[in-house]
Order: sequence, then structure tokens, then C-alpha cells
Amino acid sequence: MLSSIQAAAMEMAPVPTQHPQDQRPQEQRRPIAANGPNRQMAKMHALNQLPMIRDLQLRGSSIERRLRCNVLQSPLAGVSDRIFRALVRRWAPDALLFTEMVNATSLELGHGRGKVEELSDEIGPIGVQLFDHRPQAMADAARRAEDSGAFLVDINMGCPVRKIARKGGGSGLIRDPDLACRIVESVASAVGVPVTVKTRLGWCNPPEIDTAHGAAVAWCRQLENAGARLLTVHGRTREQRFSGAADWEAIASVKQALSIPVIANGDINSPDDAVRCLEMTRADGVMVGRGTMGAPWLVGQIDAALSGRAIPSTPGPRERLLLASEQLQALVETRGDHGLLIARKHMSWTCTGFTGASQFRQKLMRAPTPDQALTLLQQQQEQLA
Ligand SMILES: Cc1cc2nc3c(=O)[nH]c(=O)nc-3n(C[C@H](O)[C@H](O)[C@H](O)COP(=O)(O)O)c2cc1C
Repeated sequence: MLSSIQAAAMEMAPVPTQHPQDQRPQEQRRPIAANGPNRQMAKMHALNQLPMIRDLQLRGSSIERRLRCNVLQSPLAGVSDRIFRALVRRWAPDALLFTEMVNATSLELGHGRGKVEELSDEIGPIGVQLFDHRPQAMADAARRAEDSGAFLVDINMGCPVRKIARKGGGSGLIRDPDLACRIVESVASAVGVPVTVKTRLGWCNPPEIDTAHGAAVAWCRQLENAGARLLTVHGRTREQRFSGAADWEAIASVKQALSIPVIANGDINSPDDAVRCLEMTRADGVMVGRGTMGAPWLVGQIDAALSGRAIPSTPGPRERLLLASEQLQALVETRGDHGLLIARKHMSWTCTGFTGASQFRQKLMRAPTPDQALTLLQQQQEQLA
């Protein structure tokens, strides 16, 4: 029997044969140049128009947090584990990262505690993301997260997975704003750190755009009034799941209406996307999800672009193979042979960009043991030397 989180990871994870960035239109797929006068000028121009890029200050009931980086790595069930996060931090040491979502009731029953209790290794800000429909369980889980060193506690009100939403958790809370607000209040009064919410524009798409934007604003205002200190808004409804384009204009309406920081999420896959999104939404920052799968450097690249620093170059094929080996070794050290199963999807996203990459990935996916997979990675690195 699959847990709801495993179900979520399977339902949300794309088929691991194609790099997520390869699914974007050709014009968005150009490699990110490290430098170059044109890019530099474009960046300066863009930055002049982004006055919202400043430190984020979040006040919890007794603890205040400050974020120097306006790019957030999104929680990704089945992906953003401790090992993945450590890779993201190599390029983005100051970014706020999130645990995979954790179910409060499961925590109460003793399952999934590792995800909350392993925070002591974390060298930068880490948000614990919780989901459930029971305010008391959420408050208890939040206390546990705070005791483990969470920088903040985030409440998931966007997960579209049927099994979760049907029980009233994740995006299911959009249909029950009173319960959603009780959960925010209950969590906010249980912990001293700031409480944030990650949500979507609504449950389903109203026929008129104005109504849709108005509904999104009304929903987000309720969360702000209940005590959320920051909102991340994925610019899609639950009905859309991951289809269609994220509606950044709707996020702009939410940003304009709220006093707390608003983070824009959805379809940000490059520094240029981030700049365009911030220009359109005037949001206080961006959160990046699928674009980081197989590309743990992306958050750092976007951060550099927004801070006016040179954008670190995208690792070439050999560096990617090396990263894949490191990730596999770390996963096997912590998870035993099961680590190979987890590593497969990461390796299929990372091992790209060289002649014969597709055949190589097919062979790699069939490697029956971690040692055999590591040997293949090593041989391919040597071939590319
Ligand atoms: C594999 C996968 C797992 C996800 N897991 C979570 C999660 O645990 N919590 C959450 O709030 N959102 C989760 N999401 C949604 C993303 O965080 C993000 O909101 C969404 O993908 C849109 O952003 P993007 O276009 O940058 O990917 C997940 C998405 C995917 C594809």
C-alpha cells in the first residue's frame, strides 16, 4: 500500500527519461551564458526595474527571520531530500530550501520523522513543509519541526494529489477556507518561527479571468489574516494541476492586494524567466521547482542574476556525471541499495548533454547494483575526458 507521499511523488514526478528542461519550448532551452556583455547589460536593465528585490523579513510570534536570497527551492516530494538540498546549497548557500512535504498525522504515528529530525546537518535556512487537515496534529508537528531547527514552518495548501485533497489536506483546504484558517492560526500559535503557506490560485477555473483573479485574492487575503507571514502562490488552480501556463498576472493581483511577502511560483526555469516573472508580478521573490530537477545549480544561477553577480556557468557533461556519481554514492550510504532506485530518476535528469546520452541513460537505468552504476558513470566520464 502506497503512503500518500509516495503516491504524490509518483503522481507528480514526470517520467524519468527526459530532462525536465528539455520539455520546454526550444527558445527557452538555450544554455545559460556565464557572462557576456549583452547578458550583463540585459541584467542591469532588468535589475533597475526590480526594486522589490530586497531582503525578506519574516516575523514569527517570537522569532524573526531574515532571508538574503529571494529565490526559494520548492518542496518536491520524492526529490528534495537532504542529499539533493546539499547540492542546491553548493550554488545557493543562502537560499531557503524546503523538506519534502511531511504528513502531520503520520508524524504523530511515528512515520516520516527522519525528514523533520535530520535538519541538524542543514547548513542554510530550511523550511519544514507540513500537510494535514487536523489543526491539532499540524500544531504538534510544527512544534516538532521548530524543535529540530526549522527556519520556518510551511503549510501545504496546494498539493493536487487526489488521495491527499480528498481527505481535506493540500489543495483540499482551498475548498474549506475556514478550516484552512484554523490550521494557520493553530500552527502560528504553536511555534515562535514564522508560518508560511504554499498554495494555488484556487480549486477550479472560474470562467471569467476577473472572477478568477478576484477569487485568488480573496483566498490569499484570508490566509494573510489568519497569520501567514509569507505566501507562495503557484499560478495554477488545482483543476489545472500542472497543465497550461502559470498565470503570473493572477499572482500580480495577489501581490498587489497583500501586505505580507508574496513569492511567485510556476514555470520559472531560467534567470530570464525569473526576471520576467518579477517584472510582471512585482512579487518579493520566486520559487523554482521542476526546473531544478537534474539542475541543482539553477537556484544559484537565478540568485546571482537577481543580485547582479555573474551567473555561474551551467556544469558541462563531465561535471554532471560527477555530480550524478556523488549523489548516487550519498544515497546508497544513507539508504542502502534502495538508494539506487531513488538515484535513478536524478541520474536520468542529470546525465545529459553529450553524444549518446540517451543510450547511456538507458544502460545506466538497467544497472542492477550501485557498483555497476558507478562503474558506468566512471567509464563515461573517462570517455568524455
Ligand atoms: C515531483 C514533484 C513533487 C512536488 N512536491 C511538492 C511538495 O512536496 N510540496 C509542494 O508544496 N509542492 C510540491 N510540488 C509542486 C512544486 O513545488 C511547484 O509548486 C510546481 O511544480 C510549480 O512550480 P514549477 O513550475 O517551478 O515546477 C511538486 C511538484 C513536482 C513536479
